[in-house]
Amino acid sequence: MPVDSTTFRSVLGQWPSGVCVVTTAGPHGAHGMTASSFSSVSLDPPMVSVCLGNHLPSRSLLEAAGRFAISFLGKDQAHIGRRFAGQDRDITDRFAGFDWVTTPNGCPVLADAVAWLDCRIAYAYPGGDHTIFVGEVTEAATPRVGAPLLFHSRNWGQLADPLPEGIHLAVDVPAGDPLADTLRRGGARVRADGGCFEFPAGGPDGLPHPERIIAARQAGTTVIGYVPDAFDPSREDEVLATAGALSALGCDEIGLLESETVPASPLQVRRVLQDAVVRARPAALRVRLAGNNRLALVNALVAMKSGVSCFDVVAPGSPASGLPLGDLLHLSRQLEVGAPIGAADVADRASDLAQLRE
Ligand SMILES: Cc1cc2nc3c(=O)[nH]c(=O)nc-3n(C[C@H](O)[C@H](O)[C@H](O)COP(=O)(O)O)c2cc1C
Repeated sequence: MPVDSTTFRSVLGQWPSGVCVVTTAGPHGAHGMTASSFSSVSLDPPMVSVCLGNHLPSRSLLEAAGRFAISFLGKDQAHIGRRFAGQDRDITDRFAGFDWVTTPNGCPVLADAVAWLDCRIAYAYPGGDHTIFVGEVTEAATPRVGAPLLFHSRNWGQLADPLPEGIHLAVDVPAGDPLADTLRRGGARVRADGGCFEFPAGGPDGLPHPERIIAARQAGTTVIGYVPDAFDPSREDEVLATAGALSALGCDEIGLLESETVPASPLQVRRVLQDAVVRARPAALRVRLAGNNRLALVNALVAMKSGVSCFDVVAPGSPASGLPLGDLLHLSRQLEVGAPIGAADVADRASDLAQLRE
């Protein structure tokens, strides 16, 4: 006996998916609809599939045109998903107001899609009340690498990365401080020890020559490109582009620096990091928060929840400014995230230093 449709629908709602817009073009112009039934099928030849309801205009238009394109939606494009699902009742032209690019097959794709595929229909199989279209991919691009839009339990969503298992620290420690040894033993990096090739990205000298980076990596040196003012809302596109460029250059890590003068809002930290984590791959993201306050701790939590596990912090008594080591260790203990040393080690050291000053 077949499963009843309410149970079936609620079970399907538990399966999270990405969201795309399937488009085609025929003698009467372009047509598009939202779909979550996209799937990859074959690597060689490259093939993908999408299942369209037999009753939908999109289905007959795709079949007649013999071609379709897929635009993957980004986390900020739920309104486009809604519109191409026919959920904006007042909209007559689904395409109006967005930028489109025409693919070699003549189908429109979103200019700022996370990625797109251009396909020629290779097969169309019956699939109950849907048709399974298998397309041979003839062209593909990733115009705006970033976090994807998701659909789950009939709701739009975004990736929320789990907390990291552990944090990796680079610590500014005062010269001669015994805490430095405890940190080294725990696997933290003491910044004064050197051993890393660090450079500011976007400084007056621009980016280092690729051969310098190759040589440093061959010598076993960790290469870190630092992006200044990374959470300034007016610099978002530039920061993301720089993260992508540093990754392409071969950096092991990309450090995002908070401005010393303008505190970053948690919302902006989330916006930047969610996309920067994707752009930076395979490099890891490192974050240096400037503030010694509660907002900096909230931002550290947001960073961890956005997939960041590497932080630059400042030990007690260090002349450098930034997020205090003890605060981050305390936060990670509360979150059950592993850390190189215990918060108590730092608290003890801070009180030793306070006594020395008295
Ligand atoms: C997130 C989401 C995913 C969808 N996925 C599909 C799908 O994979 N196949 C399908 O036939 N309809 C799907 N739909 C419904 C279509 O987008 C909707 O019926 C649309 O109006 C069809 O366009 P048309 O009537 O112009 O053909 C989806 C809707 C939403 C909101």
